Amino acid sequence: MAAPKIVVLAGSIRTGSLNEKLAAVVARALEDAGAETTHISLKDYPLPLYDGDLQAREGVPDAAKALVDLFLAQHGAFVASPEYNASFPPLLKNAFDWMSRVSVEGKPPLPAFKTKVFALGSVTNGAMGGYRGLTQLRAMMELGLGALVLPEMVSVGNAADAFTDDGRLSNPRTADFMASVVARLVTEAGRLA
Ligand SMILES: Cc1cc2nc3c(=O)[nH]c(=O)nc-3n(C[C@H](O)[C@H](O)[C@H](O)COP(=O)(O)O)c2cc1C
Repeated sequence: MAAPKIVVLAGSIRTGSLNEKLAAVVARALEDAGAETTHISLKDYPLPLYDGDLQAREGVPDAAKALVDLFLAQHGAFVASPEYNASFPPLLKNAFDWMSRVSVEGKPPLPAFKTKVFALGSVTNGAMGGYRGLTQLRAMMELGLGALVLPEMVSVGNAADAFTDDGRLSNPRTADFMASVVARLVTEAGRLA
């Protein structure tokens, strides 16, 4: 089996983002599990707030096209998303909304999402670890974008104690669960490689 290509991103560009830390942990675990991993930051793909008039006037921004091109070259993706008011943040919604407006000739709609398998995770300071936000993100990705999303989601609560100084997950059960999600993502993405 060829090594699957998997992109990892966080739904936060905040300095010191907890979800960026989770993305880094997962990216390393994916590499260790044999995936060819690309860890990106949405900071490098700045996008205006979606506006149909702007799209009609200027087309889809280059950053959204670049994200679609990048996603098309992958077999899998891991998204680490903060929880904002029991949902997921506008940074992710906006990026995925713009990406959903990119049409690729000769391909079915939403090729960046329909052609790969996704896994989701979240870190919050609260006890529920962003699980409520992940259910909202899952609904958008499955129902709106046609994505295949693994049922298991990495939910990390009590963030103050969640990471070791060298950037690993400190709770062994959480670390084992994350590793199992990573293993499944590599297996499922590997079927597409
Ligand atoms: C607008 C807003 C809403 C938030 N709502 C929630 C929430 O519903 N549940 C929760 O656990 N944390 C909530 N938080 C706290 C975030 O989980 C926390 O700021 C987290 O560090 C954000 O992720 P990041 O560190 O990756 O940027 C909220 C934060 C913001 C800014």
